Amino acid sequence: MITPDIASENFIADSLNNWTNYLNRVYGTRTISAKYQAMEWSGEGYRIKDTKGKTYIDFLGGYGIFSLGHRHPAVVAAVKEQLDRLPLGSKELLHPQGGLLAKKMAEITPGDLKYSFFGNSGTEAVEGAIKLARLYTKKPEFICAENGYHGKTLGALSATYRQKFRTPFEPLVSGFKHVPFGEAAAIEAAITDQTAAVLLEPFQGEGGINIPPAGYLKKVRDICDRRGVLLILDEIQCGLGRTGKMWGCDHDGVAPDILCSAKALGGGVMPIGAFVGTEKVWAPLNDWPTIHTSTFGGNPLACAAALAALNVLEKENLPARAAQVGDYLIKRLRALAGIYPQYFKEVRGLGLFIGMEFHTDDIGNALYDLFFEKGVLVASILANPKIIRLEPPLIIDEKIVDDVITRFEDALQELGRR
Ligand SMILES: Cc1ncc(COP(=O)(O)O)c(C=O)c1O
Repeated sequence: MITPDIASENFIADSLNNWTNYLNRVYGTRTISAKYQAMEWSGEGYRIKDTKGKTYIDFLGGYGIFSLGHRHPAVVAAVKEQLDRLPLGSKELLHPQGGLLAKKMAEITPGDLKYSFFGNSGTEAVEGAIKLARLYTKKPEFICAENGYHGKTLGALSATYRQKFRTPFEPLVSGFKHVPFGEAAAIEAAITDQTAAVLLEPFQGEGGINIPPAGYLKKVRDICDRRGVLLILDEIQCGLGRTGKMWGCDHDGVAPDILCSAKALGGGVMPIGAFVGTEKVWAPLNDWPTIHTSTFGGNPLACAAALAALNVLEKENLPARAAQVGDYLIKRLRALAGIYPQYFKEVRGLGLFIGMEFHTDDIGNALYDLFFEKGVLVASILANPKIIRLEPPLIIDEKIVDDVITRFEDALQELGRR
């Protein structure tokens, strides 16, 4: 039987055993699924349902995948139509969706960004960007930020900051330096005649929702221009409307030479990632296109999903909605923080890219569980349990925020009674 029988008596135990015994062990043993004997089963809009029928408000959003919510009808329809016709391409004939999506990316990305390469994930987008920067500049070095996260394949991992992820795999790709995030002068000081590019997230997600001082990216852009260094921006988590503008870099009015996107690009239905470059930077790839390829990258199904997703983002004006509802959510969270200062250290964020920092790991861990018990899924940061991230679908409204705040307040009161 391929479809699991969720009504069977031992369904949850069997499913958890499968995860524990045949997948990365950590998933089966340590997750909230194991703790609460819950397996997700279906999703619609801003909600997920488990196999027992319990509904959760999804304020985790798959760490930024579900900007359109679950199964947005326009994306599902586009994918179904493509699925019934030609899900994967021959790789010899060209398909129209790939060209249309690349043209759309050129339209919606800032500045002179024009050419796209499509892969299947965020880390692949970063790998491609690193390779392109080396190819174009013929230089080996990159300057990245402390607490930055760019993925876990070897190249992207070399740009990722956390030592715990890096150490077991050393030596990584050489030439990556990390400087404090938000300090443009530190970037300037780290540049050498061997620097190919500066590679940054405009706003750090995995690092704990870190918002640099206004004007930071503008200063970095100026430094890169003055010193003849490329600027690569990783918009994989904060891009596509989440922070209240289409791209994180739009807040500073700057454009990178190479932009990486993924996560929400697939509309919450298909995996797809992209790196997009200017005509100038792309020249060596245009001269030698097969130097970087992917069998599944840019397949018709994923491109159909992304095209539909970008269309919805624009049509439903979701970046503006994220700004408006995000302001409201941050305001309400800060009011909660004012009532419970014994737990909260800070609420920070932009649009629907929000972090709640608590005083201790224990408070963060307890609230993570309590929020789940109250039916709200939130995002933890493994590296720093003091911080809980909120990345809800951009389609939510103030009424849903009110509901979530009531549940959070219940959780905070319960914590107080312990
Ligand atoms: C900013 C950023 N870059 C890159 C990645 C890696 O993406 P993926 O997990 O799809 O490889 C992530 C994933 O969380 C991310 O947040």
